[in-house]
Amino acid sequence: MLTRIFFKVFLLIFFVSLNLNAAIKDPVKAENGMVVSASELASKVGADILKKGGNAVDASVAVGFALAVTFPYAGNIGGGGFMVIHLEDGLNTSIDYREKAPAKAHRDMYLDDEKNVISGMSTEGWSSGGVPGSVAGMIYALEKYGTLSLKEVIKPAIELAANGFPLSYRMANDINGFREYFLMYESSKKIFTNKGQPKVEGEMFVQTDLANTLKLIKENGRDGFYKGNVAELIVKQSGELGGFIEIEDLENYEPVEREPITGEYKDYKFISMPPPSSGGIALAQALNIIENFNFEKNEWGSSRYIHTVSEVLKYVYADRSQHLGDEDFYNVPKEWLTSEKYAEEIASKIGDIAVPSKEILPCDIPIYESNETTHYSVVDKFGNAVSVTTTINSGYGSKVVVDGAGFLLNNEMDDFSAKPGVPNQFGLLGNEANSIQPNKRMLSSMSPTIVTKNDKPYIVIGSPGGSRIITTVLQVILNCIDFGMDIQEAIDMPRFHHQWMPDRIDYEKFGMSGDVKKSLENRGQTIGIETVVGRAQGIMVDKNGTLWGASDSRGFGKAIGY
Ligand code: DON
Repeated sequence: MLTRIFFKVFLLIFFVSLNLNAAIKDPVKAENGMVVSASELASKVGADILKKGGNAVDASVAVGFALAVTFPYAGNIGGGGFMVIHLEDGLNTSIDYREKAPAKAHRDMYLDDEKNVISGMSTEGWSSGGVPGSVAGMIYALEKYGTLSLKEVIKPAIELAANGFPLSYRMANDINGFREYFLMYESSKKIFTNKGQPKVEGEMFVQTDLANTLKLIKENGRDGFYKGNVAELIVKQSGELGGFIEIEDLENYEPVEREPITGEYKDYKFISMPPPSSGGIALAQALNIIENFNFEKNEWGSSRYIHTVSEVLKYVYADRSQHLGDEDFYNVPKEWLTSEKYAEEIASKIGDIAVPSKEILPCDIPIYESNETTHYSVVDKFGNAVSVTTTINSGYGSKVVVDGAGFLLNNEMDDFSAKPGVPNQFGLLGNEANSIQPNKRMLSSMSPTIVTKNDKPYIVIGSPGGSRIITTVLQVILNCIDFGMDIQEAIDMPRFHHQWMPDRIDYEKFGMSGDVKKSLENRGQTIGIETVVGRAQGIMVDKNGTLWGASDSRGFGKAIGY
């Protein structure tokens, strides 16, 4: 009898623990190098470059070009991005290859005669496109920080485009979901439909025009894109379809190497993207304020935790709307926003009861200061780490393929504030700092980030998700540091999101119990909608130097190490 009871208890414990372990898959383990991206084929390209002896920058550039072929939803050469680099010798830097407004752009370009925003003009078709930066930025990074030639790192992308790869069930479905848009443009119809009919799982997806464009880049470097045949194709179609991009815009495009935003949180340092991204400053603000509150490990998911972080985010996003924009055009008060003094000031205003967003205004600056996206993370055997977020903005960007050149143009102009008080597609508000001006870079939320411990990489992280990128990256970092999760747990656990306006906490499926919702409402919070918050790709390096890669279970990416 006793033996039977023991056996039943044993079985119960066994199955419960089996279940718990099965809830979240294990991160991928490796000793030498790791690449995590939204596409298995692209991760493999990066891992192969690392195995060949390339460094993390070589692998990142190879992944960037490969994603333009295998993940056209967001991977690109027709868009822009940010690369944050931590080198083994301690150097931290960032490369800004964000798109720019064409020289012909102007403040009211998306407004009608009554000064109302013209629906769709900043999000669809050629009028929504910014001057692409990806090719120039990746080549700049490779030449300055890589060790392999452009020919070597672009080769796998050319082969994938020229020979094709079988379309997965998911990718075929994904493309077909946008068919009505692709049918609007002959050039897009040619590539993303089968003569107007849906793509089919298993068919070889060959992109000959794109392969030819990549070959021109391989032969001529950045001139293969910004001058000659490809540039002429861009400008020709832009002129025909109501775009603003001209040949000088392409010739004059330059990436900018910028000092990253750095800061400390507990025993860790973080390195993230400066303006024109809002990500680094917002993350620094949020972590600085949160450091004034202590969360116990068992408080994850509690109303105190969600309430406090949501209050913090209201102040952060309010400041974003007013003070952040392209620093080359607007004096961004970085020093004040990321200062501990300001963080303490905000922390002292946060209590048990919510302050309604309409009572929270962007801060006054007391001191004068002179001054559908994808992420991939790479760590190499030398101890270099690279964190890249790149985008054409919405899924498949403007939906227009540059005819003859085989790539999609971004619709990044929507990240500007078309008119103060009118939200963009992510519900974000903006003002003077992010108004449209010729040649200006539009404000971004992309937050490629590297967290270090004892000056060695600890977490490499980033995500797509528009305005939700910042809250995604923040929560993954807190999950690791404050709640002791492994990288897969930290990425897969449900997240929440607050962005000041609208004044509500959105949450993920199973992410907020009825009790917690009630308790948050008692604190004066408004519960928003059930939604998806981000899709992160991360690497954690443990104290033994072992690499742990994790691709978000919300997506279909892959961590590949060796
Ligand atoms: O730069 C930005 O903040 C946006 N263009 C990012 C767009 C994005 O993440 C779309 N994915 N959901």
